[in-house]
Amino acid sequence: MKTKILDILKSAEGYTSGEKISEALGISRNAVWKHIKRLKEEGYNITSVTNRGYMLSASDILSPNEIKDGLNTRFIAQNIVYRDETDSTNNLAKRHCDMPDGTLFIADIQTGGKGRLGRAWSSPGGEGIWMSVLLKPDITPQCISQITLAAGLAVCRAISDSAMIKYPNDIVMNKKKVCGILTELSAEIDAVNYVMCGIGINVNTPSFPPELSDKATSLFIETGEKHCRAPIVRRVMEEFEDIYDGFIKNGISSFIDEYRSRCINIGRTVRIIVNRAEKVGNCVGIDDNGCILVETDGKINAVSSGEVSVRGLLGYV
Ligand code: BTN
Repeated sequence: MKTKILDILKSAEGYTSGEKISEALGISRNAVWKHIKRLKEEGYNITSVTNRGYMLSASDILSPNEIKDGLNTRFIAQNIVYRDETDSTNNLAKRHCDMPDGTLFIADIQTGGKGRLGRAWSSPGGEGIWMSVLLKPDITPQCISQITLAAGLAVCRAISDSAMIKYPNDIVMNKKKVCGILTELSAEIDAVNYVMCGIGINVNTPSFPPELSDKATSLFIETGEKHCRAPIVRRVMEEFEDIYDGFIKNGISSFIDEYRSRCINIGRTVRIIVNRAEKVGNCVGIDDNGCILVETDGKINAVSSGEVSVRGLLGYV
């Protein structure tokens, strides 16, 4: 019943009277009022005005129902596991690895959010999108890093025309990181059991501590507006499925040109860190396998995304 009331309020322009809702749904006005009260407690912004009725305004609700409302995918995020709080959505996905291909695990708060290279990922409530997609592709483990590139491109497409990728999969706006991706997998030598593709997007973070403020940003900082998270999750899932489908059918060639066009490192001097050893060189491109091409001492080296950390010469990019 609550969902039906929400549908009515979502499709209305302006206020809808309690009487109209009670007639449409065949329930008493008192029952309407009780459902509205519960929706407000869940976080929906519903204004009630005597003699006019109820009006719904933008509400940042991260429930499976909100994410699925209008979601246009075949299998990604068709099944959703939501938690108000979890340690890490990648761990949550691992604990439920028997769930269907494409299941989305999402939480409002992560108490043990994980970043790349063993770092922690700060994941406070109400500020970001912390989610992992469980995938069961029939590919070799060597190709998994290419799925991470695909996920980065999907986030770029979903959040802004001006978003760029810092190799391999940090999404940057104005040269600062707005999203990070951590892909973990369970595999045999020649076959993948499952993949957890974890995506963290800073959405409404108001500010970052001084040591991060020149490297990290959020959609709120970049646009000056608060954003509802569910529509962003939907867009990322739709773009991810589009790119992932192409990848499964035709390999990395289906998206690598678009990836290159978004890669901020190409043409810049970079510091690459592989197994703690650092080299400075010119990023001359991304090869057809998704490796970064770095020219040092007149030689071009291809370095795979799984083993590299890339920095700009002076700052983050
Ligand atoms: C990085 O840039 O270091 C990767 C950050 C990945 C963060 C996301 S948030 C959802 C998922 N769960 C985690 O614990 N990490 C990833």
